Amino acid sequence: MKISGPLVKALNNQISMEANAAHAYLAAGSWCEITGYDGSAAFFYAQAEEEHQHMLKFVNFLNGQGVGAIIPAVKQPPKTFKSLEAICKTALSNEQGVTKSINKMVDIAQRDKDHNTFTFLQFFVNEQIEEEQQFENILQKFNLLGRDKLAIYEIDKLLAGMATAPSAESQN
Ligand code: FEO
Repeated sequence: MKISGPLVKALNNQISMEANAAHAYLAAGSWCEITGYDGSAAFFYAQAEEEHQHMLKFVNFLNGQGVGAIIPAVKQPPKTFKSLEAICKTALSNEQGVTKSINKMVDIAQRDKDHNTFTFLQFFVNEQIEEEQQFENILQKFNLLGRDKLAIYEIDKLLAGMATAPSAESQN
């Protein structure tokens, strides 16, 4: 079954969102590295890798359906950030935007009775639940531990523990 025009457009737009997310996490990781937040740097670099994998899934899917994927230009992310907490707040709100976008595509796929694309999108529906929860959990740590140097040091250590690169399995 051919993917509808609106869904192709939305899928290509998603490639752009995932590419921008990868870039934003890369910038966050770089700032953390410079600032001395080594655990957070590792975490955001791993996040960037994960977003790159997401982008590739959409590229491969569109290409596999005989619709050439459009590789987009990416936005220049900020060079500096206010704080680790500010990065995580922005990350959560960006992930909420991604969730909205995924859900919109699921709606279109349902409307189109496009079961193939609908099934493909299920991975991302689940992934977004995890990603939002992850940042909500991190943000909660600031409320629990505080925002002084020692608290940030502890949170940085926690992020180090979350910095596992996605396994090959979870990518399928
Ligand atoms: Fe791939 Fe975090 O959205």
